[in-house]
Amino acid sequence: MDDRWGTARDEGVGGAGRGVAALASNAQWRALKDHFALVKDLTLRALFEADPDRGTALAAEGAGLYLDYSKNRVTRETVRLLCDLARARGLEAWRDAMFQGERINITEDRSVLHVALRAPRGTVIKVDGCDVVPEVHEVLAQMSAFADKVRDGRWTGYSGKRIRTVINIGIGGSYLGPEMACQALRPFADPAIAVRFVANVDSEALRAATADLDPAETLFIVCSKTFTTEETMTNARSARQWCVAGLGSDAAVAAHFVAVSTNAAEVARFGIDAAHMFVFWDWVGGRYSLGSAVGLALMIAIGPERFREMLAGFRDMDEHFQSAPLECNLPVLMGMLSVWYNNFHGMETQAILPYAHGLARLPAYLEQLQMESNGKHVDLAGRPVTYQTGPIVWGEPGVDAQHSFYQLLHQGTKAVPCDLIGFCRSSADLPGHQDLLMANLLAQAEALAFGRPAAQLAEEGVPAAQIPYRVCEGNRPTTIVLGEALTPRVLGALIALYEHSVFTQGVVWGIDSFDQWGVELGKVLARRIASEIRGGIGEGAHDSSTRALIGRYLARRTG
Ligand code: F6P
Repeated sequence: MDDRWGTARDEGVGGAGRGVAALASNAQWRALKDHFALVKDLTLRALFEADPDRGTALAAEGAGLYLDYSKNRVTRETVRLLCDLARARGLEAWRDAMFQGERINITEDRSVLHVALRAPRGTVIKVDGCDVVPEVHEVLAQMSAFADKVRDGRWTGYSGKRIRTVINIGIGGSYLGPEMACQALRPFADPAIAVRFVANVDSEALRAATADLDPAETLFIVCSKTFTTEETMTNARSARQWCVAGLGSDAAVAAHFVAVSTNAAEVARFGIDAAHMFVFWDWVGGRYSLGSAVGLALMIAIGPERFREMLAGFRDMDEHFQSAPLECNLPVLMGMLSVWYNNFHGMETQAILPYAHGLARLPAYLEQLQMESNGKHVDLAGRPVTYQTGPIVWGEPGVDAQHSFYQLLHQGTKAVPCDLIGFCRSSADLPGHQDLLMANLLAQAEALAFGRPAAQLAEEGVPAAQIPYRVCEGNRPTTIVLGEALTPRVLGALIALYEHSVFTQGVVWGIDSFDQWGVELGKVLARRIASEIRGGIGEGAHDSSTRALIGRYLARRTG
C-alpha cells in the first residue's frame, strides 16, 4: 500500500491515460471555464426557442431508461466540452481499469468490483490472478437455495415453525440498499414473509421491529461487511438475547441467525455457524453492495429469480456505460451535468425527486452512495483539492415534496438541479393515479424550467401589486429519468446509472470514490465516550462543551 501511495504522489496514479494531473491546469477544464462565461446567462426559455429540436436532441436512451437532459442549462457545445473533459481526465481508462479488477481504490489498495457481482457466468475478472466470477455465482447459488427454503417453509425456526418475518440488522451500505429495494419491489414480494430493517442503535428501533413478533417465526440476518460495526453488533447481541429468552435455549440461535459479511472470524465469534454465513469480498464497497449477499433480505422477499432480473438490469447499465459513446452515455451525461453545476455554476446541492412511491428511500440510498463516495478533500495524490467535490444530495418522493419544499425550488434564492424519476406504468392501477402522478412530474419540470414571468402574470390579469410575489423566474435545471415500469430489471439499471455517474464525477475530480476515512474519527470518539460513560471521564479529557454535555447526560440519564 505504501508503494502505491508513493507512486500516486510521484507519478500520477497507475497506467496509461490515468494520471491525476491537477484539474485546474487541465486545458479542457479551462475551456469549460471560458465557455461558462459565454453561456452562464442563457435561459432555458431562450435555449428552447432557439432550438426547436432541443427536447429530443438533448436526450439519450440506454439499459431501458430514457434520459431527457434538455431542461439543463447547457448547449450542445457545453455537452461536447464536458465529454472532452471526461475523456481528458481518463474516464474510459479508469472505467476499463475498474472493470478489469485493477486496484483503483488507491487508499485502501483494493479493487472496485461491484460490477463483478452482476457479471454473467463465464466472464473472467481477476483479482490477484484469481477469477472472482465463479465465487460470485457460488454465493448467489447459496443465497438462492437458502431464500427458497425460507420462502417455501423448508427452513423452520427452532421450534419447527415457519419463518414469517425476516429482520435485517445492519447500517449504511448494509441496510440502505436492501431497504430501498425491498420497498421499490414490494409488488413482487411474497406477502407471506415480512421483511424489516433495524439500523439505528436506539433501542426503540429493535423494540419496534420485534414488538409484535414471535421469536419462533423470526429470522435475523446480521449484515455487516466488517462485523465490527458497533451499532450493528449491539443490535445483533440484543436480538440474540430476545430470541434466546423467547425460545428458552442458546441452541435456537442456529435456526434464527444468519450472517452476511467478509469477516468469517468475527461471525464465528458471534456464534453463527460458517454454514449460515454468506460471504462477500473486500472489493465490494458497502454502498455498492446491494447485488452481493447484502441483498439476501431482498432475495428472500422477491425470490431468487427476480433478484437475478435486478442483477441483469445492473448489467444492462454496466454494458451501456462500457460501450456507449460518452456523448450519449447516460451515467457520463448525468455525472458531467453534476460537475457542470457543482464546479461552474456553484450550485452546491442536488435533489433526487422520484415520482414513484416505491422509490421513497432512493434519496437516502443515494445520499450515502454519492456523499460517502465523493465527499473528499484531497485528490488521489493526496493534494488538497482547489475545487468543489461531491455535491450535497438530498430529496423526497416527488409529489409529496411538492407540498413541502418545492416552494424553495421555484422561488428560493438558491438554484437546485433536480433529478425527476418517473415511470410510464404503475404496479397498482387505480384509475387516474398514474396519469396524475406523471402530469405532476412533467408540470414541475416545465414550471422549474420556464417559470411564470411578470408579463405573463399581467396578461392573465394578476393585479400589479401582486406580481412580484407570484413571479417564478424559471431557469431551474431538471433532468428527467423515465422508465417503463419499476421492475427489478429497471431498478437494477437505475442504481447502476447512479453508481457510474458517481464514478464519472470522482474521476473528473481525481479523488478516491471508494474509501470513507472521514467517518472513522467519529467512530473512535464514540467508542471512547461510550467507555467513559460506563467507567468515568478522565481528568482533562475533551473540550469544555463535550465534558459538560457528558456530565449533564450522566446526571439525568436514569430519569
Ligand atoms: O461508517 C461507514 C460505513 O463503513 C459504511 O461505509 C458502511 O456501509 C457502513 O459503515 C456499515 O459497515 P459494515 O457493513 O461493515 O457494518
